[in-house]
Amino acid sequence: MTISAHIVGWGKYLPKEVLTNEYFERLVDTSDDWIRSRTGILERRRAHPKEHTSSLAVKAAWSALEVAGLSPRQVDLILLSTITPDYIFPGTAYVVQDALGAFHAAAFDLNAGCTGFVYALAVAADMIKSGSYRNVLVIGAETMSRILDYSDRNTCVLFGDGAGAVVLQASEQPGGILASVLGADGSGGGLLQQPAGGTRHPATPETIEHRLHFVKMNGNEVYKFAINAMTKASKEAIQKAGLAIDDIDLVIPHQANVRIIHSAGKNLGLPPERLYVNVERYGNISTGSIPVALCEALEEGRIQANDHVLLVAFGAGLSWAAVALQWGDKTTVAERPWWKTAVRTLRNRQAAAMQSVAKRAGRKIDAWWPHRNGNGVEKNGE
Ligand code: UT7
Repeated sequence: MTISAHIVGWGKYLPKEVLTNEYFERLVDTSDDWIRSRTGILERRRAHPKEHTSSLAVKAAWSALEVAGLSPRQVDLILLSTITPDYIFPGTAYVVQDALGAFHAAAFDLNAGCTGFVYALAVAADMIKSGSYRNVLVIGAETMSRILDYSDRNTCVLFGDGAGAVVLQASEQPGGILASVLGADGSGGGLLQQPAGGTRHPATPETIEHRLHFVKMNGNEVYKFAINAMTKASKEAIQKAGLAIDDIDLVIPHQANVRIIHSAGKNLGLPPERLYVNVERYGNISTGSIPVALCEALEEGRIQANDHVLLVAFGAGLSWAAVALQWGDKTTVAERPWWKTAVRTLRNRQAAAMQSVAKRAGRKIDAWWPHRNGNGVEKNGE
């Protein structure tokens, strides 16, 4: 029996605060006209000081689980892509696992810049197809506002915060993830990076003074790389899936710059109506951009059952990736009375909170009675 991997749940979360181009006109030497014409961006979101990458991720994940009709306890693996983790370690995927109460799930973070979500989806699909996992939560979440230098006009106007998630599930139905292409060129790492905060340049007064904990980018070089990488990865993934460009109903590209999207689309011979664009509303959410765009494409009815969809991204690393997929049956969120959704969400969250409290209490008890194992059972089995 051949196992396929289908997206059966999807969700997004965008913080409430909207930063317009006018906001940046007051901060740096820029203009609404420059930002619009050079990038297509009109506004982006910024997380509340009390929000962080895991809290954005958890909200997107709850929605994806709700659409999939799964409880967190049915999730086998959480794969979280981010370049703005809550901590250097532990990984943000573990924070999310605990918050969801997904206690049967393995979890890990993946760092492939803006390409991360497509990388993660490809890895998750292969893990499902190999038979190792059944329900995988794939999340792309980013709080870019925490690593942006709001005095650097080259970068601060471009990025925004947000998260998107999908549930990828094993299925006997054909279709789902058909092919993936992953690529990297580490020699271009310096073109887009957060130089300090790792082991090469740990935080010192000097790194802070030189603002090395913020995003640095050679935008022009990344721009040229992006168009080539997206064109090449798209062609390879489409060919690997046994398809032709004309078979692709919708391309969901990484949302960094509308000019990059249209140039890559032109290289591929794709008309603008087959390219999904929402960069005007959110700016570049890095790894969150594609799952958020996927959710919105579904909400707008741009994806129908059996459609061929291409996801394609580029980013820090340098990295690039494309996934060709055939959508399954589910294209809309099932019409469920609002109160049923509310009760279910409440029950899931309560269960997660109670399990978390119970686990923590268990750990405290174990610390007092070290002869007991994690389940409160005597270590010698008595
Ligand atoms: O997801 C991966 C992350 N990175 C990206 O996606 C970025 C990819 N690159 C881009 O999107 C574009 O290269 C930018 C939008 C960053 C820049 O557009 P460009 O058409 O490549 O402009 P440029 O780099 O050639 O710069 C043109 C000018 C420069 O001034 P000078 O040196 O010609 O006097 C910049 O200093 O525009 C200037 N500039 C700005 N002017 C007003 C750069 N940022 C701004 C700004 N407002 N915010």
